[in-house]
Amino acid sequence: MKNLLEIADLYHACQTIGGFFGARLKAFRDYLDFRGVHRIFDIGCGPGHIINHIPDGIDYIGFDIDHRYIESANRRFGKRGRFVVRPFDRSAADDYGQPDLILMNGVLHHMDDTCAHSIVESAAAILPEHGFFFALDGCYKSGQNPISHYLLKNDRGKFVRTAPEYQNLVATVFPQTEVFVRDDLSWVPYTFAITRARKIVAPRSVKETASSRPNSHTFFTQDIHGVIQNDKYSPIKRA
Ligand SMILES: C[S@@+](CC[C@H](N)C(=O)[O-])C[C@H]1O[C@@H](n2cnc3c(N)ncnc32)[C@H](O)[C@@H]1O
Repeated sequence: MKNLLEIADLYHACQTIGGFFGARLKAFRDYLDFRGVHRIFDIGCGPGHIINHIPDGIDYIGFDIDHRYIESANRRFGKRGRFVVRPFDRSAADDYGQPDLILMNGVLHHMDDTCAHSIVESAAAILPEHGFFFALDGCYKSGQNPISHYLLKNDRGKFVRTAPEYQNLVATVFPQTEVFVRDDLSWVPYTFAITRARKIVAPRSVKETASSRPNSHTFFTQDIHGVIQNDKYSPIKRA
């Protein structure tokens, strides 16, 4: 079964049926703002279906080391974006230009700390100051639904982490990192960690204080002083 999941169509069907693909879209809706984004690097893009949910006009480049996913992505979505068989490193910016958003959906939990840290470091090196890093992964947390815990334990990715562990991975190179933990993104019980990071620390507006946030989810935030806080968060407001 695990090998079969490497086949592009079956992988996407499983993602869709389980609600895991929809979870990515909900995370985009809640934690990403594409306004001002000109170029996206999608590291570990898989079969590339996410490109259907990237606003037109944004230059999209997907990287994956699995040629079957990239062949499928180019066949289906090659007119809309570029998909390349390539392990991501910072030289990608020399070849494709500087991105202002880097995505890693469902990828970090396939990488050990050394590999993940090297990729995150390269991402930080090539992003401009206004750029964002965004990752979504399965996440352990205490008291989580046993089905969620079982699925995470048996995931193909052997490096599922807790929210503070995802945060520590990224916070070493991104002064502003936030990890949002969500149990409500898929119909199959599953805990997601959404990691959002940038190189400059944006000041919080009065409107964004914890007490004024209506739909709250647990999250951890680390600022430039390295302080981890438990807090509450509501999805970003759209104009
Ligand atoms: C679980 S899939 C996620 C696919 C897609 N992003 C999604 O949201 O469904 C993880 C992908 O990461 C790719 N991958 C793993 N290590 C990579 C690396 N160093 N560079 C690029 N892709 C990598 C794998 O080949 C696989 O396609």
